[in-house]
Amino acid sequence: MPDHPWWQTGVIYQIYPRSFQDSTGNGIGDLAGVIQRLDHLSGTLGVDALWLSPFYPSPMKDFGYDVADYCDVDPLFGDLATFDLLVEEAHRRALRVIIDWVPNHTSDQHPWFRASRTSRTSPKRDWYIWRDPAPDGSPPNNWLAVFGGSAWEWDEATGQYYLHSFLPEQPDLNWRNPQVESAMFETVRFWLDRGVDGIRIDVAHHVMKDPELRDNPPAPHIGERAFKPLGEYDLQRHIHDKGHPDVHEVFRRLRSLLDRYEGDRFAVGEIHIFDLEELAAYYGDLDELHMPYNFSLLWQPWEAHRFRRLVDRFEAVLPPGAWPNYVLGNHDEPRLASRFGEPQARTAAVLLLTLRGTPTIYYGDELGLTNAVIPPDRQQDPWALRVEGIESRDGCRTPMPWDTSPTAGFSPPGSADPWLPISPVHRARSVAAQLDDPGSLLVLYRRLLAYRRDSEALRLGDYRAVDSTPGTFCYLRSHHDERVLVALNFTGVDRSPAVDLTGRGTVVLSTDPGRQGVTPLGGVVLGPHEGLVVEL
Ligand code: GLC
Repeated sequence: MPDHPWWQTGVIYQIYPRSFQDSTGNGIGDLAGVIQRLDHLSGTLGVDALWLSPFYPSPMKDFGYDVADYCDVDPLFGDLATFDLLVEEAHRRALRVIIDWVPNHTSDQHPWFRASRTSRTSPKRDWYIWRDPAPDGSPPNNWLAVFGGSAWEWDEATGQYYLHSFLPEQPDLNWRNPQVESAMFETVRFWLDRGVDGIRIDVAHHVMKDPELRDNPPAPHIGERAFKPLGEYDLQRHIHDKGHPDVHEVFRRLRSLLDRYEGDRFAVGEIHIFDLEELAAYYGDLDELHMPYNFSLLWQPWEAHRFRRLVDRFEAVLPPGAWPNYVLGNHDEPRLASRFGEPQARTAAVLLLTLRGTPTIYYGDELGLTNAVIPPDRQQDPWALRVEGIESRDGCRTPMPWDTSPTAGFSPPGSADPWLPISPVHRARSVAAQLDDPGSLLVLYRRLLAYRRDSEALRLGDYRAVDSTPGTFCYLRSHHDERVLVALNFTGVDRSPAVDLTGRGTVVLSTDPGRQGVTPLGGVVLGPHEGLVVEL
């Protein structure tokens, strides 16, 4: 399939490096640990690309999303030589490597910000967003930080406020200063030159703000929400503090930088926009991001008609030739199996790996890990520690359970306590515990990934929803004369989708490992939460 780049045909697997594999015994995962698990990822599981959350030098106030040096590796995770080895070993196994690029903000310990805050006349002053106080001494406008409180932090020494959309230790860069853009683009080149295949752009839509820094208007009462509650932050319509249209020019320039490299270098943006048409604008005329991450399904109630509506809608608003994608979990959201439910996690696996577009699997979701319960004295997430009522992100960031031993194979035996505790429930769902169990979720993922690899209909085919009875979501995927029907039961009882299709098909996969053989298409009955894939 020479016309289709790897990021369209492949499946991305997200690794949170702190939590994947600890090779040193300090209780924190590292890059050498990731290398140890590459055979599992490419061979046993069968994914095509790894996205590594940040591994850069960082004070770790936001666990690496506060970057102090964009062109190095934090000693906690290894060094550049280990990173180079990781890329080499990944490529040897035909695995692509995507790194996390954090353009909106640096750490307050980044040399740029340290220089910026020394004086109002520092050559780096304008690299960040500094403003005088309002006449009464209060912040320059009403913007709020995602992680609580005002988005402005007072700097006593120079008598101005600086902007931080997240933690005060994460000052926002001023992307309207061309020097910032060229310095940040230089950091992208640094990694592309080292062989990295792509970047995931952290809060990509935050990069450009209203140049006049106008106040955000209040938000109308929130009826049905598309995303989780964000506390006080929800009280405003965030029309001025992010998503300014000038961001598109930045991404066009970034895209031409990427396109100057060989080998389909890729950019996917983390963009929390739930108006799908607005989200699709980030594809530009296929000259901006290769994909904006589509989070619309993450917080949907588990109801078939909602999922169908959002998939149909996304398909409808995509610019011609744009490639869709769906996300069901990541390091910021409670585990999929806890959000949707445990039986639903099996159906969700079928959905994720059979929709048109690029799937991203969050590490551990292939094991059906539930959100871990973290004792109060072990809490780490700065967001939840600062803002009351915010659900901690720790529960989805706990160590990967590889086996049933006390350290779960995450750390070598006798290691320090892991940075977040390993739940006994997770140990029982380890990779080792599931691999030989034909009914396990891990085996279902393996089979789905293997089937998808061989099926042009699933990887490349069109998507067309097929009307079916309430509680079910059915669609056809077709490529040339290859046709596959996917039928999903979103309910806990038997359901006949009663699709208007004649003839029979061959079951190739089901969440029910016992189901096989030939089935009449119109008369098929789905078991509770069953996800079924049938070849026509
Ligand atoms: C993104 C990251 C999240 C981080 C935030 C600030 O949303 O996914 O983990 O805390 O940006 O960088």
